[in-house]
Amino acid sequence: MPDARILGIESSCDETGAAVVRSGQQILSNVVASQIATHQPYGGVVPELASREHLRAIVPVVRQALAEAGQTYQSVDAIAVTQGPGLAGALLVGISYAKALAFAVEKPLIAVNHLEGHIHAVLLEQRQSENSDLHFPVLALVVSGGHTHLYLAQVQENLWSYRNIGHTRDDAAGEAFDKVAKLLGLGYPGGPIIDRLAPHGDPQAVKFQTSQIKHPDRRGQKQSDRNQLSAEEDGPHFDFSYSGIKTAVLRYVETQSLKPVIEVRRQALAGIDKPKLEDYLRLCDRQTLNLVASFQRSMVNDLVMKTLTAAREYDVRTLFVSGGVAANLELRTIFEREAGMQGLPVFFPSRALSTDNAAMIAAAAFPKFMRQEFVAMDFSAEAGMLLR
Ligand code: KG4
Ligand code: ZN
Repeated sequence: MPDARILGIESSCDETGAAVVRSGQQILSNVVASQIATHQPYGGVVPELASREHLRAIVPVVRQALAEAGQTYQSVDAIAVTQGPGLAGALLVGISYAKALAFAVEKPLIAVNHLEGHIHAVLLEQRQSENSDLHFPVLALVVSGGHTHLYLAQVQENLWSYRNIGHTRDDAAGEAFDKVAKLLGLGYPGGPIIDRLAPHGDPQAVKFQTSQIKHPDRRGQKQSDRNQLSAEEDGPHFDFSYSGIKTAVLRYVETQSLKPVIEVRRQALAGIDKPKLEDYLRLCDRQTLNLVASFQRSMVNDLVMKTLTAAREYDVRTLFVSGGVAANLELRTIFEREAGMQGLPVFFPSRALSTDNAAMIAAAAFPKFMRQEFVAMDFSAEAGMLLR
């Protein structure tokens, strides 16, 4: 296998990332500049601000990644960049930079789907820990702020292919975590805060129902496309829906008259620079902690149960869980326990590689490098890019 050093660049949302990965299996550097502080006052990512921050960060982040890896612009073998899905303006910063660099130093350019990157984050770390014993087919749950997708993944001679067998019909799981945290005055991003608060509440205290989806999703499909789908392609789908639980939390807040205490908490936290767990705990009463714990338990149970049902239906041999929400401790624990009971191995990226980073982009680019799957200089961002 050739010894290829690939410089990866990621700018699809609110993290500017650059990394150097050797042959899809060894991280030489992985630098992430987070924009959380920029977006925090708005309670979510503001696309215009994201593009501006990427522009500011991209040059120093790439320089740092090369320096930490002991590489130069000239010494890397290829440049890989996220093509989509993501925010168009944010993607364009990474793509324009990568194109200019590839042109200047005469290196091949590789376009990577961000979701494929999340899946390869798992593979990269498995290879890094010398676990090459992966059995196919693999079922990958990519669960982040923008996605809750199930993919069947296969590989043949470095050609990876993916088949989507489930997706969210409305909110992504991470989006539900973020919206519920915002609603409860806990700040942004909500996932990591809820993750840390949940163990302090009773997960059985409030009963939430997650939606059970029975009918196929036909939105956005033309009749001609529907007719073309063979029974096999059309196969069983395992879709998710999380806008209902978010509304149920809102209803609970209203019926229990929690708004005044939420407002007090919001203002108190806004006045603290980098609040700690103790600050959150001091500002949350038992009822709120119970609500947070119950919300997280319902989300986790739904993600785990639907994924395991899909795994049985498609008779998969390995499970991957990746994306920002895969950092969630309870999700990991329950997945491991439940998949273990089915005798199904489940792999997660480390917490650092769960959220957006460029090492996963450089890793996903390696099989494409091997196949010489390079892109021409006229390729562009694809905000709604599908994974196939
Ligand atoms: O993959 P990612 O960094 O960006 C996207 O591609 O969306 O995922 C970010 C999402 C956010 O919604 C964030 O709240 C969620 O992942 N997240 C978590 C945790 N850490 C990040 N959700 C639950 N528990 C966590 N520990
Ligand atoms: Zn992501």
